[in-house]
Amino acid sequence: MKFLDQFKQKNKKFYIKWTVIGMSAIMAALAALWLYINDWDAQQSMNALVETVTVEEPATEAPKEQVTKVPESPEVVEEPTEEKPVIEEPVEETVTDATVYSEKALPKEPTIINGILLANKQHPLPETYAPGEVPEAHAAFEAMKAEAAKVGINLNAFSTYRNFARQKQLYESYVAKDGQQAADRYSARPGYSEHQTGLSFDIGESGQEQHWASASFGDTEGGKWLAVNAHNYGFILRYPEGKEKITGYMHESWHFRYVGKDVATQIYEKGITLEEYLGVN
Ligand code: DAL
Ligand code: ZN
Repeated sequence: MKFLDQFKQKNKKFYIKWTVIGMSAIMAALAALWLYINDWDAQQSMNALVETVTVEEPATEAPKEQVTKVPESPEVVEEPTEEKPVIEEPVEETVTDATVYSEKALPKEPTIINGILLANKQHPLPETYAPGEVPEAHAAFEAMKAEAAKVGINLNAFSTYRNFARQKQLYESYVAKDGQQAADRYSARPGYSEHQTGLSFDIGESGQEQHWASASFGDTEGGKWLAVNAHNYGFILRYPEGKEKITGYMHESWHFRYVGKDVATQIYEKGITLEEYLGVN
């Protein structure tokens, strides 16, 4: 062993020298290899080296923000899944009150739904709409009158078609007499009256004028007969009791509207109004 120690001591400088040379050669080779991997780009090599030796910090911040998927089409909107629950504001129910007039100007065309002409406080007529009494409705009234006469009831249509100007005159006279609020419950403003359609008939009995345009007509034989038979001739009681919020007007036992036999029968049997039948208001 002594010999070996003497040998090592003698060759120490030699070892150190060649170890340093060897290590340098390896380092140079590795550096060359690194540069070669990074396309001989010194900056890229340095960046890659930094990235390689950087130890990623454990994530301590808040969880990654949720990525909202962009919908492929406007119809498919994907709801975020882990959002806080949305507390919905109570939606105020909008109850349409048919007694309130539409603020819009009179239209250029009347409203026709499923072939049925509609005139009410939300669906006015053009000022110039002036069809006169509709012949089909007139013929239906005559047939009904003939049938009622067989049981001793003498029907009289005391007010049928009224043009815009006549309705204006009437409405203004009612406002002057009862005030606008009261008049609005039983008389249409010009442009809003169903009488302007030529399809409405105010009916009473000849010789019983005291009941014309009066609630009492509903209790007379004529009024009761009409209430249960008018639909067979295509007429409906247009403003039934308890439906003011739907039709816009108080009960009128004398005001009948021609809609045709089929529709009138459906409306009568269901006990509904024209608005409900048409699905408006
Ligand atoms: N009396 C009905 C509502 C009208 O004036 O048309
Ligand atoms: Zn009427």
